[in-house]
Amino acid sequence: MAVSYKDLGFVNTKEMFKKAFEGGYAVPAYNFNNMEQIQSIITACGKSNSPVIMQVSSGARKYANETLLQYMAQGAVKMARQQGHNMPVALHLDHGDTFELCVQCIESGFSSVMIDGSHHPYEKNVELTAKVVEYAHKYDVTVEGELGVLAGIEDDVVAAESVYTQPDQVEDFVKKTGVDSLAISIGTSHGAFKFKPEQCTKNEKGVLVPPPLRFDILEEIEKRVPGFPIVLHGASSVLPEYVKIIEENGGALKAAIGIPSEQLRKAAKSAVCKINIDSDGRLVMTAMIRKVFKDSPAEFDPRKYLGPAREELIKMMIDKNENVLGSAGKG
Ligand code: G3H
Ligand code: 13P
Ligand code: ZN
Repeated sequence: MAVSYKDLGFVNTKEMFKKAFEGGYAVPAYNFNNMEQIQSIITACGKSNSPVIMQVSSGARKYANETLLQYMAQGAVKMARQQGHNMPVALHLDHGDTFELCVQCIESGFSSVMIDGSHHPYEKNVELTAKVVEYAHKYDVTVEGELGVLAGIEDDVVAAESVYTQPDQVEDFVKKTGVDSLAISIGTSHGAFKFKPEQCTKNEKGVLVPPPLRFDILEEIEKRVPGFPIVLHGASSVLPEYVKIIEENGGALKAAIGIPSEQLRKAAKSAVCKINIDSDGRLVMTAMIRKVFKDSPAEFDPRKYLGPAREELIKMMIDKNENVLGSAGKG
């Protein structure tokens, strides 16, 4: 074993999810690819005293270099402690697609990994997930699996249609793999275009309201595996205020629709213990950067546009922790 996450200030997700389940809230899992994003995650979760999962996708590893990301994550925990914040922090691989990638992450100090075998036939998904679990548990690293397919883009895999998780498979999957948490498909999807306008209804204010998540499937799953932590991917709300700023400042994001906050609040009170948010952060950054560029065309110091993006990202994440996931004050 090269390095253990325990020596780097991270925790695995076991205790986090136990408390989240019992407390009726969800732990935020925010993706990061750069310094401003990780600073925002740590600052927002420190200030709101929320447990947090910082997650890294394969795309992030390619973009920013895996070694650099690893050290940034370690530095972020140190920064939090220096600032007097003691919330638990997990470092998690998002959408790991091979056993080898999971091993690499575990050896470099990740405290949690996802092995996403959801695109494989069921038996292959079981086999791959069980293999990762067997390895990860030797080092007390927690593992997230996935059953059912989310529509949209998961790194390089594009799924046109979502395939809802079959509750009947869940108990068998959890038992055979020994996985610690499970991502399910109940109507969320990745990215900023989660629903087509024609799937939505208009409310009294003329705002498009997407179809509700399949809470009936979630309830069935909860019955099959009582007390087991469930994960919701593709859970950005695609916050209309930021889409509006993007549109007003030269962007084009017509028909960007996400999961309404009330639906996420409801999910967070159930067996859903981890909620993944990436697109909302991307939208906040893009909105603020576009605004600075439009308002101050002569500006060319990156700190002058990344700084405001970082400030707004912190605000958005504190709001999520306090008012959507319910994780604030639980650190
Ligand atoms: O699940 C997808 C995450 O939002 C990561 O996205 O693969 O573009 O880094 P990415
Ligand atoms: P969003 O695209 O809805 O933010 O989902 C992110 C995610 O699920 C990362 O794994
Ligand atoms: Zn995801």
